[in-house]
Amino acid sequence: MTATSTNPLVSAAAPSTAAPPVSDLAALTRPDFPLLEQIACLGQPLIYLDYAATSQKPRQVLEALQQYYGHDNANVHRGAHQLSARATDHFEAARQKVADFIGAASAREIVFTRNASEAINLVARSWGDANLKAGDEVLLSVMEHHSNLVPWQLLAARTGCVLRHAGVTETGELDLADLRAKLSERTKLVSLVHVSNTLGCLNPMAEVAALAHGVGALLLVDACQSLPHKPVDVVALGADFLVGSSHKLCGPTGMGFLWGREALLEAMPPFLGGGEMIQDVYLDHSSWADLPHKFEAGTPAIGEAIGMGAALDYLQNLGMERIHAWEQQLTRRLFQRLQAIEGVRILGPTPEQQPDRAALAAFSVEGLHANDIAALLDSAGVCIRSGHHCTQPLHRHYGLAGTARASLGFTTTPEEIDRFAEELEGTIGFLREHS
Ligand code: ALA
Repeated sequence: MTATSTNPLVSAAAPSTAAPPVSDLAALTRPDFPLLEQIACLGQPLIYLDYAATSQKPRQVLEALQQYYGHDNANVHRGAHQLSARATDHFEAARQKVADFIGAASAREIVFTRNASEAINLVARSWGDANLKAGDEVLLSVMEHHSNLVPWQLLAARTGCVLRHAGVTETGELDLADLRAKLSERTKLVSLVHVSNTLGCLNPMAEVAALAHGVGALLLVDACQSLPHKPVDVVALGADFLVGSSHKLCGPTGMGFLWGREALLEAMPPFLGGGEMIQDVYLDHSSWADLPHKFEAGTPAIGEAIGMGAALDYLQNLGMERIHAWEQQLTRRLFQRLQAIEGVRILGPTPEQQPDRAALAAFSVEGLHANDIAALLDSAGVCIRSGHHCTQPLHRHYGLAGTARASLGFTTTPEEIDRFAEELEGTIGFLREHS
């Protein structure tokens, strides 16, 4: 199976460098995404601006899935036959690709999960149940996705540990002073989103790591919204755990991963029990497989892991620095266009306030409902998300039931941003007239 691009432009992409030229990655990559060529309605091309919810998949990923199911399909780590050996090789190669993508010391530190939520639940159940007791504290923030809130609420109900939440600043960034004030020797874990899916802010993880480690706490990073858009290195972040999601990274759904420092994972008890995660099973007790299989009960998502590996190859070939530089340009254009529309209020820092912020804008429009805006835009062929984006506490903080959100990817063109802004202006005018 080959996962490298057959698009000559992508194949010729230079490896990632520290200061790459900003190239038009949309022009480079659009041939790989036939889905984006469809006509939505009234002869208008479809515009997909919902990358923070899920990414589109290049044909290289679809071909990797086709290759696996069409030629190599077998269960892994089991059979003595050639298909099983091939499937196992490709599956474990995908694990190594994840390790390389995030700068992990070894593939033993990569645990495959169904999604990032499951990865956080794994840490809460396994590490949390074994290490926390009543009165210990877990420090989160008000901008967290529900997947980084609810598992800790369940842990608190089981153990009596206390949850604390750092706030956000006026500009919609992490309030570091508040975080510092809420850290103490009682804090055992800080669990934070790297890039907010609603505010778009990039949180200063290395600083947070130093603060957390200063009081003896561990740091878990939810990197779902940063991994697809910029280089992420677990060592540079100072993280102890990190979670990611395949479908946001141009890979298939049903696949995520947990990275943890090897010594931590070694010391943690299993999460789910079953086949694959054992060494020996007796009627009344069992012993566990080595890392990372100790945490992977049952037949894993083999094709999905291989598809995710192909997606990571695709992103690496483009270069994460190049993706980031291109998306920064797009972000500035998105903000310029939205800021020019009367009544639009964007959450989170502007690109001037935080140049590294993410390529998305969650916004409200005075007097209008976000769902109406998204529905009308959809009828014009523009796909955005509306609602609470799984950050209800953050929306409550701003006194909003929901927002509309446009989120970009490297395939987004400046012209698509312009058409989105024009359609939005028309939509707002129409809704104002008819409400
Ligand atoms: N968490 C994803 C989003 O922000 C689903 O849309």
